[in-house]
Amino acid sequence: FAFTAENRAKADKIIARYPAGRQASAVLPLLDMAQRQAGGWLPRAAMDHVAEILDMAAIRVYEVATFYTMFNLKPVGKYLLQVCRTTPCWLRGADSMTETCKKKLGIGLKETTADGLFTLVEVECLGACVNAPVVQINDDFYEDLDAAKLEQLLDDLKAGKKPAHGPQIDRLNSAPVGGPT
Ligand code: FES
Repeated sequence: FAFTAENRAKADKIIARYPAGRQASAVLPLLDMAQRQAGGWLPRAAMDHVAEILDMAAIRVYEVATFYTMFNLKPVGKYLLQVCRTTPCWLRGADSMTETCKKKLGIGLKETTADGLFTLVEVECLGACVNAPVVQINDDFYEDLDAAKLEQLLDDLKAGKKPAHGPQIDRLNSAPVGGPT
């Protein structure tokens, strides 16, 4: 693994933001760039490459990569389904989001479909609780979901469409009187 020339130039710019000798501060953005270049996960060779560029011991880079759940240490599908399971989303149906994905895709948590399209994981609060339940798919948030909407999203992605992210149902207007606002 080595950064493309374009990514290497970006890496150099990021490193230049920090004082001389403090290049290790750039480890997070460089790991993120490496993960994107490698197709959504971090092979050992990519972590080693980042360590070399930043003049860090490889173990220090592994420590960072294994601490943050946003880094994937195994290959993932084209679409990484990240179901928020923290209390507000749980109260508004997170379990049914996970079940919908499991049933529809025939996979369990941390598994990938045979066609390599979807990987399913549960994550902690995504910071969008106001529109719970939330499923993050790659970099995009799909909010205010229900099981039918989520199934539709999965169908669209499978068909090669790019569904619009953001709130999916008109919750405020469809809530029953006296219901959640
Ligand atoms: Fe799901 Fe906060 S609890 S976004």
